[in-house]
Amino acid sequence: MRLGIISALAEEQHGLIEALESPFKHFYGMREYTAGKLWEIDAVCVLSRIGKVAAAMTAAILVEKFGVTHIVFTGVAGSGDKNVTVGDIVVAEQLIQHDFDASPLFPRFEIPLTGLSQFATDVHLTDRLAAAAAPVTRVHRGLIASGDQFIGKPGQIQALKAAIPSVLAVEMEGAAVAQVCFELGIPFAVIRTISDNANDDAAVDFMHFIKTVASRYAFEVIYNFCKS
Ligand code: ADE
Repeated sequence: MRLGIISALAEEQHGLIEALESPFKHFYGMREYTAGKLWEIDAVCVLSRIGKVAAAMTAAILVEKFGVTHIVFTGVAGSGDKNVTVGDIVVAEQLIQHDFDASPLFPRFEIPLTGLSQFATDVHLTDRLAAAAAPVTRVHRGLIASGDQFIGKPGQIQALKAAIPSVLAVEMEGAAVAQVCFELGIPFAVIRTISDNANDDAAVDFMHFIKTVASRYAFEVIYNFCKS
């Protein structure tokens, strides 16, 4: 296994790059890819920055240029469900691009020519990540929705839930990585710590959380994952 680890922001991957043994840095396409050994696992860590295009670009480069065989995305997300609270972890079983709409040519949310509106994560990686997260905090598994929008304006999360009721968490990258990995045949998983409730307070909660809990959780879960 050569594992690609992506996060959007530095805080979401805090400590992992420092934990890489014999790190080797490559700069490509305006991003820094750091390869090395992460607790015995051959790994490449990179920050995608925010958004679906940035994440898709990063995932494709990890596979095509850096030869990763598996990808894990780790970061934070807004809650999409009343039972999912700040500090919980959501491990994706499926991902959907909630802002994708090529109707009437294709059904809303369907990615043209794949016939799919949701992409499933790899079962083994997902089980292993969920097991790694269980000692850290409460873990949920299910649908994560991604789009090029920070969800925090009045009515936004309600509209999204009306369209996709089973959403557990909202973020801005996971489903893009899912599509790239599906098309390239790469097993992948997505893990998100809930930083906010995707409501009026989301931006403030997000900024606070990302500086405090997010980095610690990401580190603990990936440590447990690599050791498992
Ligand atoms: N990531 C963390 N919180 C988010 C939110 N409310 N909307 C989109 N992405 C997020």
